[in-house]
Amino acid sequence: MTDPASRESPGTGLTDRVLELVRTDDPRTGALLTALIRHLHEFVRETRPTPDEWRYGLDFLARTGEFCTSDRHEFILLSDLLALSSLVDRLSNAGPGTPSMVEGPFHTAAPPREMGAIIATGAEWGRGGWTVLRGTVTGPGGVPVPGATIDIWQSDDHGRYDVQDEAQPAGNLRALLATGDDGSFMVRTVRPASYPVPVDGTGGELLRAMRRHPMRPAHIHAQVRADGYRTLTTHLFVAGDEYLDSDAAFGVRDGLVLPFRRCDDPAAIARFGMPGPFFDVAFDFRLARGSPATGHPGHGDG
Ligand code: BEZ
Ligand code: FE
Repeated sequence: MTDPASRESPGTGLTDRVLELVRTDDPRTGALLTALIRHLHEFVRETRPTPDEWRYGLDFLARTGEFCTSDRHEFILLSDLLALSSLVDRLSNAGPGTPSMVEGPFHTAAPPREMGAIIATGAEWGRGGWTVLRGTVTGPGGVPVPGATIDIWQSDDHGRYDVQDEAQPAGNLRALLATGDDGSFMVRTVRPASYPVPVDGTGGELLRAMRRHPMRPAHIHAQVRADGYRTLTTHLFVAGDEYLDSDAAFGVRDGLVLPFRRCDDPAAIARFGMPGPFFDVAFDFRLARGSPATGHPGHGDG
């Protein structure tokens, strides 16, 4: 006669048998594999997929691989859309300092720029939305960090990065700059716009299956490095954006949503060398002590 317990939970023995076979040289690899097997077996026991459903899932993963190229990593997009990238990031970068957020797929090497440079070198500068982004990099206790490197990248006012848009000059809306002796920085740019994540792959399929939109609220990316500090990778979001509460990549965090304050003062317009009224945005990047390598390395720079 079948034992009622095994009817309730068929295949429990299989889980134990495969777990017994996890013998890795590296204990961490063993722990990860053991947990993965346990959770996957539990998923199957809980949801009881039919063989067709299981095959659909495996084919979905195979198709995800087919969308991957040297410029596109569809598995990372799935991880972003399921909030797994944000979860890994938050658990790895908990602690003092500015909240972090993943690098995303649009980071490329930025051109070095001088303090105060206009980094909007394409047609968007003529369309307005002029913005002064300025502030400081500080360490614990608010001490200024001179000579920190700030890598900035953002979309234009149509929500397009230079790498997605042949009309934009290479390196547009990107900057690598160093903080001054007082830890300060400043660039002149345009206000970015919200944009959709790519939806022509399995990431899009996943969103449609959940009836979710693909939009990310407007943001500026920044990565801040300095000797003796953890590398900070983060986003600065535009306050008031309609997608702040429903970011497709779950990146919005307290302290990263910044007012873009409109400044009409002719003296300030002249002082910053702006073509007209502009948005004034101020931010203090607060770094935590540590080694740069302990920060979030992202996936675009090897
Ligand atoms: C981005 O902000 O560039 C991004 C992040 C995650 C998924 C897609 C885009
Ligand atoms: Fe982005």
